[in-house]
Amino acid sequence: MRKNKLALIFGITGQDGSYLAELLLKKKYIVHGVKRRSSSINTARIDHIYQEPQSKNQKFFLHYGDMTDATSIFNLINDIRPDEIYNLAAQSNVALSFIQPHYTFQVNALGTLAILEAIKTLKLNTKTKLYHAATSEMFGNSNKKSLSENSGFYPVSPYGSSKLAAHNLILNYRNSYNIFGVSGILFNHESPRRGETFVTKKIIRSLCEIKNNKKDCLYLGNIYSKRDWGHAKDYVEMQWKMLQKKIPNDYVIATGKSYSIKEFINLTLKQLNMKSEWLGKDLKEVCIYNNKPIIRISKKYFRPNELHILLGNSSLAKKELAWEPRYDINQLIKEMIAHELNNN
Ligand code: NAP
Ligand code: GDD
Repeated sequence: MRKNKLALIFGITGQDGSYLAELLLKKKYIVHGVKRRSSSINTARIDHIYQEPQSKNQKFFLHYGDMTDATSIFNLINDIRPDEIYNLAAQSNVALSFIQPHYTFQVNALGTLAILEAIKTLKLNTKTKLYHAATSEMFGNSNKKSLSENSGFYPVSPYGSSKLAAHNLILNYRNSYNIFGVSGILFNHESPRRGETFVTKKIIRSLCEIKNNKKDCLYLGNIYSKRDWGHAKDYVEMQWKMLQKKIPNDYVIATGKSYSIKEFINLTLKQLNMKSEWLGKDLKEVCIYNNKPIIRISKKYFRPNELHILLGNSSLAKKELAWEPRYDINQLIKEMIAHELNNN
């Protein structure tokens, strides 16, 4: 009888980690996840799949660890000896990376290095495959209209730079030590489980609250940048598919459609049946609904440097991994709105 595969997920408490854990459990994996210590409970996204320890046929295990602590990373990989490692843990907030650049590098770049070193030192290169969560933020402000695996990297944030360092380390260790390490260059992906500070979640939650008279006004930064937004469920499937290949390769995952933040707001307003109009310009721009301002622009949310437009080309993933996203932007917004309205 074939043994269940063992997976170890760093970042299991995050948006992607929770969907990936569900997917792997459905595929009969034994899933080990790493959570970091926090003063309040940080397992809300995975509580529904958590089983009490020692329950019969337990398939899901949580361990303490931290990406800034190479010892905990080494010990976990040594104890579990997984078939697949998913490195999803990150300081993933681009704006915050300008305020905490050292920490961002420690978690995102040095944390990845600690995983690679553990695989090398433990001689797990013939057993363990590693997926690394790279990002479209690595491209920065490229002069290419549509970004693929062959486009150059010119990151414009400490976050993008830290992820590029990690991406390069994956390549170095793949070429030097024959480690099966791959980077998924994923464009923005959202879901009802998206962190509250990211723009899509902030917009949808606030507009639902405004519609229900629970909030007066939403403050945003640059609403003219554009993003290629997909659904996290579609994207974690790709993370798994990349590790099922015989030969390691990196793939861009994107929908191939790009919308401005303002377009995203307008699509959300439309689904909420909130008839509104935009007035003014720059910092004075405002969105009016029922004769009241419901969106204003605040300097506070502008970044020291902005990535103006992201649009990805996933032809290679479509060809080699047989991928087709199931969600378009309107379905994504619909699901996020339904979640907010049902849960708040
Ligand atoms: P997320 O929701 O922010 O989740 C990040 C995870 O990393 C959380 O589990 C978090 O733990 C954990 N983490 C943060 N710092 C840590 C540390 N020092 N030690 C251990 N764990 C730590 O991010 P996501 O949206 O799921 O994204 C998953 C990965 O893909 C990230 O690496 C992100 O940079 C990358 N990515 C995301 C997107 C996107 O649009 N979502 C696009 C491209 C790449 P807590 O729950 O305790 O905070
Ligand atoms: N967060 C946020 N909050 N962003 C705002 C706001 C605001 O109030 N107002 C405008 N924006 C603009 C940002 O300036 C940016 O241009 C865009 O909205 C998207 O911001 P985020 O949702 O924070 O995402 P991101 O594109 O910076 O980063 C996300 O995607 C990357 C992949 O491209 C994160 O998930 C990263 O971890 C990921 O790598």
